[in-house]
Order: sequence, then structure tokens, then C-alpha cells
Amino acid sequence: MKNIFITGSSRGLGLEFTRQYLEKGETVLASCRNPDSAKELQELKHKYPVTLQIFKLDVTKEDERNKIFKEVKMNVSNIDILINNAGIVSGDEKKSSVLGEIYKEDFGKVFLVNSMAPLLMSEKFLPLLEKSDNAKIANITSLTGSIAKRNVGGKYSYASSKAALNMITKILSNDLRDKGITTLAIHPGWIFTDMGGPNAPQQKEEPISMIIDLVERTEISDSGKFLDWQGNELPW
Ligand SMILES: NC(=O)c1ccc[n+]([C@@H]2O[C@H](COP(=O)([O-])OP(=O)(O)OC[C@H]3O[C@@H](n4cnc5c(N)ncnc54)[C@H](OP(=O)(O)O)[C@@H]3O)[C@@H](O)[C@H]2O)c1
Repeated sequence: MKNIFITGSSRGLGLEFTRQYLEKGETVLASCRNPDSAKELQELKHKYPVTLQIFKLDVTKEDERNKIFKEVKMNVSNIDILINNAGIVSGDEKKSSVLGEIYKEDFGKVFLVNSMAPLLMSEKFLPLLEKSDNAKIANITSLTGSIAKRNVGGKYSYASSKAALNMITKILSNDLRDKGITTLAIHPGWIFTDMGGPNAPQQKEEPISMIIDLVERTEISDSGKFLDWQGNELPW
């Protein structure tokens, strides 16, 4: 049985990762900003009272990262998979980060959640990842962060935050390879969630199941790769 830590488990892809890992019989340490209002996550807790543990975590808050690390360390001896899933499109819903609407506050928030928090989470949880025989870090990125594939304007903050996350993944893979930790940047596809919106062509069940299989079969030689949900390598 593996121990899986997931950020942003309240809804969307994070909730689906939680649900599917629980169905597989793994122990899931699910985190979200407001556990009390995360209704579907609480329903899962009724179904899996032992293997699901829920933690309150805003990934941008250092005191919360420190607190839950201590709590997690008391509950499990190691983390096998860290899924850095929490993400935002915008730091201000009223501003869309297109030319003429570029705001440093928006950039700051988006970079803090999408780029820096996965690095800070990985750094914080390193002692527990190092205790696993075959630890993996899956940073949920986006094709929007591919510089090579970017051929439209707009989405300055989101696209550049995911490009930064891709670089962070690559650097982390270099730092962690000798420790046997596989670090991946994974694009989940365009999926129907609050973020993906109603026009998204895919429901979440299949791509998340494919990502779970992908994370399972990747090896240390794959560390530092930018992959889509089907395992195809993407251009940086
Ligand atoms: N859906 C797509 O089409 C798509 C495509 C490419 C990449 N992605 C990536 O996939 C990931 C999940 O996206 P999604 O579609 O599931 O989005 P979503 O439905 O908007 O859910 C986002 C999740 O992130 C959490 N979150 C946001 N800020 C947080 C913070 N500071 N601390 C902790 N949790 C925070 C949210 O929690 P609250 O409930 O508290 O707000 C929510 O659980 C993101 O990284 C996204 O960039 C999605």
C-alpha cells in the first residue's frame, strides 16, 4: 500500500486523484484549503475512514506547510507519491492577464500557487519522500506552459507560471535523481472542471486513471520529462 499526498483535493482533478487512489487501496493524504466545505471529499472520508486522511493546507502558506508536515510525519513513515495539483488560472477573476490588463498582483499570486508552491512542497516533504523506495513527484502542469507550442497571445500569468513550473520540475529532477526520486511534469489534457470549463472535451475519470498508471510505470530514467496524460513527451 502506497502513501499518496495530494494538494487541491477539494474539487476537480485533485478530488478525482483522491477518489481513484482510494479505490486502488492506497492511503491518501488529501489536502485542501477548506476541508469543512469540501463536501465530496468529506463524503469520501465516510467511505474510506481509515485510508483517507484530510489536511487543511493553503499551499502558499508557510505556517500551514510546516504544520501539516509535522502532522503527516506523525501519521506515516514515508510518502511514495506527491501530487502537486493545486493551481489557479488567475489571481484576480476580473482581470484576464491579456495585454492592457497585466497586473503584478495577479502575476504574483499565480506564480506563488502554480510555480513556487510545488517547489516549496517538494522541499518540505523531501525527508518523507527520501524514506520511500521509489518516490515520485508529479507536478500537474499544462501544455499552455510549453514555449514551443505557444502560438496564441494572452494568458500571460498562467502560461508563464506553468513554463516556470516545467523548469522547476527539470531542475528538481537533477537535484533528486541521485536520491532515487522521479520528478515529472504532467499535462492532464483539457478536462471538464471549474478550471477547464464547459467546453473541455474530456471528463476527468479517464485521463486521471491514465496519469495514475503513468506515474506508476515511470522510472528514474524518466525523471525530468514533460509528459501528457497518455505518456507522450511534450516539447518544452
Ligand atoms: N482542467 C484542465 O483542463 C486543466 C488543463 C491543464 C492543466 N490543469 C491543471 O490541473 C490542476 C488542477 O486543475 P483543475 O482543473 O482541477 O482546477 P479547479 O477545478 O479549478 O481546482 C483547483 C484546485 O486547486 C485548489 N487551490 C487553488 N489555490 C490553492 C491554494 N493556494 N492552496 C491549496 N489549494 C488551492 C482549489 O482549492 P479551492 O477549492 O480551495 O479553491 C481546487 O481544489 C491545476 O494545476 C491546473 O493548472 C488543468
